[in-house]
Amino acid sequence: MPRITLDKPTPGPSWEAAQRSERKLYLPQQGGLVSVPVFRRDRLPADIWEKAADANGRLRAMYDDFVAEIARRYPGGALLDVACNNGYFPVRAEQLGMRGCAGMDRRSHHWAAIKVLNNITGTSVRFVNQGYSPVTRGAKVGRRYDVVVASAIMCHLPDPLHFLAFLGSIAKEAVFFWGQMVDSDDYLIAYNEPNRFAFTNKQFPYGFDDNTRLSRGLFRRSAELMGFGNIVELPYRDTWLPAQWYAPHKAWLCMRA
Ligand SMILES: C[S@@+](CC[C@H](N)C(=O)[O-])C[C@H]1O[C@@H](n2cnc3c(N)ncnc32)[C@H](O)[C@@H]1O
Repeated sequence: MPRITLDKPTPGPSWEAAQRSERKLYLPQQGGLVSVPVFRRDRLPADIWEKAADANGRLRAMYDDFVAEIARRYPGGALLDVACNNGYFPVRAEQLGMRGCAGMDRRSHHWAAIKVLNNITGTSVRFVNQGYSPVTRGAKVGRRYDVVVASAIMCHLPDPLHFLAFLGSIAKEAVFFWGQMVDSDDYLIAYNEPNRFAFTNKQFPYGFDDNTRLSRGLFRRSAELMGFGNIVELPYRDTWLPAQWYAPHKAWLCMRA
């Protein structure tokens, strides 16, 4: 999620960083989870800050291109982002003319950030404080949306096919997916070791929620079976995050044929 500038034309403290000066990062070379200052210009060396600002700008350029393509194809449509974090996708979608947009996230504090963005930009994005549950295989979102976005979220879930079915059930016209995918036409699901980051201690099988990936073949076949027969890949641009890092990722707009 790109960091939002609060006070300066260059990227400044994000909402979360403004709330707390440190967060835990997984740094195996330093023994696992360690507290580090993030996105605090006053606490980072200039060269590190410049790198962080550059990465932030590239992430923003990438997400702006994603939303622009969705808004171009579905003008005036309603968009739901099912793991919206601070609401970048739905706010940007409304800025580009989409209407009735909403963000869903399991963490309630993101509503405060979305309200700030609504006030600054004049948008009317709503917030649905729900988490997708692998137990019930759904979330209560109350209605269907023209376009449903799932960006950097499947990687956190143990049941990618049921999650896809949930997305399909609430998408009238299209599902936009961004995340890593296994480079194979076979039907495969890949997981990392369970609970590698030790954030949770989930029982089997829910601990398999780290870097969950579908193969290209399984994703495409699943989308087709749900009626999304027109799958368009947004091709990589060199203004996005570096090509070497981006390589395993896919940005796919899956539209009802
Ligand atoms: C890696 S961030 C991705 C945020 C954003 N979609 C993006 O592309 O930058 C993961 C987000 O998913 C949310 N999240 C994690 N598990 C979730 C779940 N089961 N249901 C809804 N939100 C979830 C987290 O609170 C966090 O805001």
